[in-house]
Amino acid sequence: MKNKVLKCEDLEVYGHEILELLIDVYKTNFDFPREQCVSTCKEKLEKLYEYIKDGSAIIIGAFLDEQLLGIVWLYKKEVYNELYLHVNQLVVKSEHRGKGIGKELIFEAEKQAKLFNAKYLELYVIEENKSALGLYNNMGFETKKRYMIKKL
Ligand SMILES: CC(C)(COP(=O)(O)OP(=O)(O)OC[C@H]1O[C@@H](n2cnc3c(N)ncnc32)[C@H](O)[C@@H]1OP(=O)(O)O)[C@@H](O)C(=O)NCCC(=O)NCCS
Repeated sequence: MKNKVLKCEDLEVYGHEILELLIDVYKTNFDFPREQCVSTCKEKLEKLYEYIKDGSAIIIGAFLDEQLLGIVWLYKKEVYNELYLHVNQLVVKSEHRGKGIGKELIFEAEKQAKLFNAKYLELYVIEENKSALGLYNNMGFETKKRYMIKKL
């Protein structure tokens, strides 16, 4: 397996698969109907071209030969003068889960963070997403905030 930072021309080739991966993330993590997931993710994919061009998004793909297995979408952000690398999306194709690809993509995110001299990797995850929580806990992430809601 190898990891590669994706360019705009890669989006031309893998755009459809990336769209499916993003839809999968939305279906898993948001309570949206499928049509809403699809339209939101189509918009995100269109914006992704601009973000890659202007350097505000870094997309790393995990590949086996030319086959895309998963992606991590990262962006830099500054919080009180400290640089963070935010993990915006992480997703592995369902048939390739449980093989260490998610872990490998988080390692790649860490490498990128070090290249940018970012002090932290950060992300949001919902309590119900046990596989993602397992992965992040396993890789040394700590919970720093809680988002709370009250159903009315
Ligand atoms: C979360 C996700 C990226 C994990 O990818 P993966 O390639 O299956 O994960 P890995 O095989 O690298 O697993 C690494 C570690 O994660 C944990 N993990 C993975 N799947 C798990 C599961 N189903 N239950 C509990 N822990 C799990 C384990 O700690 C595992 O380490 P181990 O194999 O040494 O025990 C994948 O499940 C996914 O794409 N989910 C849908 C999209 C999503 O919800 N993304 C996260 C948004 S916050």
